[in-house]
Amino acid sequence: MLVDSGSDTATTLLAWYDRHARRLPWRATGGVAADPYRVWLSEVMLQQTTVAAVKSYFAKFTQAWPTVDALAAAEEAEVMSAWAGLGYYARARNLIACARAVSARGGRFPDTESALRALPGIGRYTAAAVAAIAFDRRAVVVDANVERVVARLFAIEQPLPAARPAIDRLTDTITPALRAGDFAQAMMDLGATICTPRAPACAICPLSDRCAARATGAPAVYPRKAPKAAKPVWSGTMFWLESDGAVLLVRRPASGLLGGMRALPTGPWGDDDPGLMGAPVEAAWQEVATGRHVFTHFALDYRVMAVRSTARSNTGEWWPIAAIDDAGLPTVFARAARLAMGEAA
Ligand code: ADE
Repeated sequence: MLVDSGSDTATTLLAWYDRHARRLPWRATGGVAADPYRVWLSEVMLQQTTVAAVKSYFAKFTQAWPTVDALAAAEEAEVMSAWAGLGYYARARNLIACARAVSARGGRFPDTESALRALPGIGRYTAAAVAAIAFDRRAVVVDANVERVVARLFAIEQPLPAARPAIDRLTDTITPALRAGDFAQAMMDLGATICTPRAPACAICPLSDRCAARATGAPAVYPRKAPKAAKPVWSGTMFWLESDGAVLLVRRPASGLLGGMRALPTGPWGDDDPGLMGAPVEAAWQEVATGRHVFTHFALDYRVMAVRSTARSNTGEWWPIAAIDDAGLPTVFARAARLAMGEAA
């Protein structure tokens, strides 16, 4: 049973937020309105990623490209390199497309959820978050933290992902007409710092008096989750072809996994061990390392095959090994490179 109306929950939570909001680089401070560009950039980066992981990327991006027009004018390859390590590279490509679309309309982001939705790469979550946080529009913002907080507040028995529509509806009932952006960020902060996945700190939670999950005595069982299907495990080979202090890198095809990113040459990734398929040259390849990298939808067991050669084929870019950190390699390749160089990955 709910003890309080939704508006009281918002009031209570906003009062907590006014005292305990995390200071984050994209948030407005001291009465200065949030910059829509910074809000949008942070929200795109924060999808599927933690605040801690995003901070250095956010600093790097806003230093290199302080405005949406600057980002729109950037070289795509440079932006992709700066994004390397954050994962979900389609987001980086959409980021550039969106910056260009906004720049083309005078460098101003639209200020409604529906107009934001029309921009490249802006889905339901990002449109709601930017409308609420940057423009103070009332929008219902549900990310993984909010999902957990709401599932607990209402002790939703239905498991995720089927519970999502119910969670959206219930979030709507507690979202205030004013300060919807602060409310959304307050829910996120509460989820990140107090209503944490495994061991919620109910004793210091401002909403504990009305939390149905807490009343059950086992808040951490919420949100209930449908059992996950096991991820398939694929096999793959990566090739480290070294010549005179440089290594051969290739650019992956624009579409598909890690599309458009610089990479080590590979053969196909799939159920079967591809052996030396996709090797950039015929040579006496030696296995120098093996590893496992877990992607969203599959895990990859890979072998790193290496060879030193004096002849340089011209099927890619010869990158100085000493500067490999500047190549903008996605994490799976950066790890394989470190293994090939004999470093702990
Ligand atoms: N996660 C996603 N967006 C966020 C924000 N604006 N503040 C804190 N955590 C977030």
